[in-house]
Amino acid sequence: MQEEPLAFGEIYRLLEQQRQNLRLKENQLEFRHEKDEFSLLMHLDEVFPEDFLELISIAKRFKENWRIHTYEKGYLSLQALNNNLFSTEGLFEQIKIRLSALGTEKQLEIRKRGNPTQSEISLINALVRAFVARKKNENPLEQLRSAGCQIFLPQETHLTLEDFAGYEEVKNQIMETIILPLLHPEVYDSITHKTRRHFETNRPRAVLFSGPPGVGKTTMAKIIGHEASYPLVYVPLENILSAYYGESSKRLAMIFDIAAQAPEKGLIIFLDEIDSLAPSRNEKLFEATRRMLSVLLRKIEGLESKTNYLTIGATNRPQDLDPALMSRFDTILEFPLPAEDDIIAMLALYARHLTQSEKAHLAKKMLGLSPRAIKDICKKAERKKAREIILEQKQEIVLPQLQDYLQALNSARANSSSF
Ligand SMILES: Nc1ncnc2c1ncn2[C@@H]1O[C@H](COP(=O)(O)OP(=O)(O)OP(=O)(O)O)[C@@H](O)[C@H]1O
Ligand SMILES: [Mg+2]
Repeated sequence: MQEEPLAFGEIYRLLEQQRQNLRLKENQLEFRHEKDEFSLLMHLDEVFPEDFLELISIAKRFKENWRIHTYEKGYLSLQALNNNLFSTEGLFEQIKIRLSALGTEKQLEIRKRGNPTQSEISLINALVRAFVARKKNENPLEQLRSAGCQIFLPQETHLTLEDFAGYEEVKNQIMETIILPLLHPEVYDSITHKTRRHFETNRPRAVLFSGPPGVGKTTMAKIIGHEASYPLVYVPLENILSAYYGESSKRLAMIFDIAAQAPEKGLIIFLDEIDSLAPSRNEKLFEATRRMLSVLLRKIEGLESKTNYLTIGATNRPQDLDPALMSRFDTILEFPLPAEDDIIAMLALYARHLTQSEKAHLAKKMLGLSPRAIKDICKKAERKKAREIILEQKQEIVLPQLQDYLQALNSARANSSSF
């Protein structure tokens, strides 16, 4: 049975009620009826990539058949079809929905020739509610997640400094310059309150981890989050640059702005692969990275006024970083390739059944490898043993021996030029 369109007076009453319930201002939600066309416009603060799917799933709840009229990055337009898909009758009178995140125009737009029916008004209300709820109720960590960041909560990460073998000097430095100030900010601040004419924090605001691939820069950032009980916001710069190309600098600014609103005691912003902002030879990318860099320079500084925020950047290529960016970091921590002692300590984590002299022997052979490569070799030796136990139907669990590790090491060296 065909549903009757509602009278405009009734439509107006229902939408006005919704607008008041959601406390939206008149310029945030506009609706009108002109030249036999109903239209509603909702201005949005932000549109996240997943909003487009959310829109489709809400639309499907109210009407079975839809046609995607246009779908591009940041823009979706849908048109309802008849219940009988083969009927074209009155197709032009069907409701249309557009969601746009293009440029500054972030909005939800709904149009219908003639007046909406009761179920169409329910659909409109559901969409308006969904987009309002996203804006107002989401906590900052959820918003950061939606903006493409990964969040590591301290209670979910179980990595501690103990799991970071060797590197005693780096660990001491991290304890002194990063973890202590995060754990006891009040002590640092009460000193500056007494020593400075104008209060200014003396705690580090931005730290750079520099070192070759696989030396534990990312792992250390997670450890700091856990040890100091701060959420770690992992910002994948490379992804933001490629996925939101054109919008990437805005997205980065937004991430810092949301982080700045986070209540509680604060968080750690981890900018991994910060060298992806190094000037690129590609002309289009050059423009995007340049804009992101300028946002970053401003925002790292901006957060300096905030008390409990720490930005950690990580890079394999410090020499490529912009000097202005380098100068924003109070401390630069070098993560070198592990020395023999560090490797022995690592083997105590990843091959603890070996004797001390076996570990020492193996460590000598592993010099020049990164912790990631060392861990991988240990893993390979274990897997090989497991396969043997299964295929040869051994009754007992036999652990890999020194020989197995040496073999795994040799084949890894033979297979990869990076070793
Ligand atoms: N000191 C260490 N002790 C034990 N394991 C370590 C140590 N350093 C790194 N690892 C291990 O090596 C692997 C690689 O570390 P991670 O990803 O943190 O390196 P990275 O420096 O961030 O590398 P990339 O530059 O490629 O991002 C991880 O599985 C980590 O657990
Ligand atoms: Mg890393």
